Amino acid sequence: MPRRAPKKPPSALDLSRHLLTLERLPTPLEPASLFPGAAPVELEVGSGKGLFLASASAARPDRNFLGAEIAGGYARLCAAKLARLESVNARIIHGDATFLVRGMLPDACLAGMHVYFPDPWWKARHRKRRVLSETFLRHAARTLVPGGELHVWTDVEEYFDESMDFARATGLFDPPRTEEAAPAEHDLDYRTHFERRTRLAGEPVWRAALARNDRAAGCERVIVPT
Ligand SMILES: C[S@@+](CC[C@H](N)C(=O)[O-])C[C@H]1O[C@@H](n2cnc3c(N)ncnc32)[C@H](O)[C@@H]1O
Repeated sequence: MPRRAPKKPPSALDLSRHLLTLERLPTPLEPASLFPGAAPVELEVGSGKGLFLASASAARPDRNFLGAEIAGGYARLCAAKLARLESVNARIIHGDATFLVRGMLPDACLAGMHVYFPDPWWKARHRKRRVLSETFLRHAARTLVPGGELHVWTDVEEYFDESMDFARATGLFDPPRTEEAAPAEHDLDYRTHFERRTRLAGEPVWRAALARNDRAAGCERVIVPT
């Protein structure tokens, strides 16, 4: 989706503790190894400006939050937000989250996964770029602990329905649980920037949480195509 280039963070701001680069990380990657404190890790795919990582990590100090953002400018913006907050339990990886989830993360290493307002890639020839493919959803289940939830929120009903169909087809998730938006109590009291924008425009949002079922425990790496 074409968007304005994000503002550059000031060069004096030290991003080294919050910004990671996918190519420099080992495979397999144990996400807990990226944090100083031992706590369950939740992954956000496509963090954008980082509102979710900033607010979730502040609200849940008992969890670690890892973001993955493919656009370098947004990854740096997000890292700058976390650096200013001096967050100890949130980090952002600059890189392709589909590669991370499909090829690098071991089984049952995530307590939760979040995909908010993924790019819809409207044109038929671009559809294959959608993050929420059936293969991705299979790996999302594989990398979640039993009972761990995948949260999918979008303003595109057709993409939502398609991803729920794909999730059902994997057989690795419980039926979706509808999530409700709480009323916003202040200007940034939204799950993400795109949720804020969509709700302020009065447009609908589709939201679901899918819990990994026990059958995913038998989801061997070798039978899951990357
Ligand atoms: C529409 S924006 C939504 C951003 C944020 N989740 C929100 O709700 O405000 C989608 C984001 O996903 C990122 N993205 C798209 N494909 C990605 C991928 N394969 N890996 C990581 N990030 C990706 C884009 O660069 C963009 O920042």
